[in-house]
Amino acid sequence: MQIKTKNGEILEVRRVQPSDAPLMVRFFHGLSYQTRWRRFLRTYEGISPLWIRREARRIARIRPQRQIAFIALWTPPHRKHQQMVAGVQVIRTTRDGPEGEFAIVVADAFQRQGIGVQLTRIAFEEAKKEGITEIVAYMHADNTGIWRTLKAVGYPLHCEVGLGERIVRLSLLEEPVLHTQS
Ligand SMILES: CC(C)(COP(=O)(O)OP(=O)(O)OC[C@H]1O[C@@H](n2cnc3c(N)ncnc32)[C@H](O)[C@@H]1OP(=O)(O)O)[C@@H](O)C(=O)NCCC(=O)NCCS
Repeated sequence: MQIKTKNGEILEVRRVQPSDAPLMVRFFHGLSYQTRWRRFLRTYEGISPLWIRREARRIARIRPQRQIAFIALWTPPHRKHQQMVAGVQVIRTTRDGPEGEFAIVVADAFQRQGIGVQLTRIAFEEAKKEGITEIVAYMHADNTGIWRTLKAVGYPLHCEVGLGERIVRLSLLEEPVLHTQS
């Protein structure tokens, strides 16, 4: 499927497949310190390239019953090869339970272009089809970007704040509503 960014770029969005591991590695290396910190709750400073490649292969080897994962791909002008510009996933927290952990990351140069909201909606729709109805997301308490993204998607948010971390829960069984302010 395709989505359009606010500045008119068309991105291809599709399920992750095992051959995406190299794309993921390049994507990870291109993320800023701040974006890594926000996505992974750590920066992976000094982590070995071998570990990164292994981790990418693990994530790309998706188990559809357990994990819903999409990537967004962009083809730069006059180039043939696509580059990964965002990824989203919902992973079941227990084998047959209704809860899934949500995570998303958009490449720095593509943030604030409406990708986060569109990918989140796609992931939630698929999650619901797979029987995942309760979503949990872990974030730094000062991560305004993800908070506003989830607000914009519209499901009522239930929030716990701990030591610098915020845990957000939402139910896909509730009706999404449009928020005019956050
Ligand atoms: C959070 C993130 C996924 C949002 O994706 P995005 O494509 O930039 O978001 P969108 O363009 O769809 O914007 C959605 C809303 O968030 C707001 N927003 C996005 N980034 C923001 C930022 N850094 N600061 C404040 N607001 C921000 C947008 O203004 C928009 O708000 P609005 O609907 O009230 O106008 C992206 O910024 C990102 O990858 N961040 C780092 C990783 C991360 O934090 N992951 C979440 C961990 S679960």
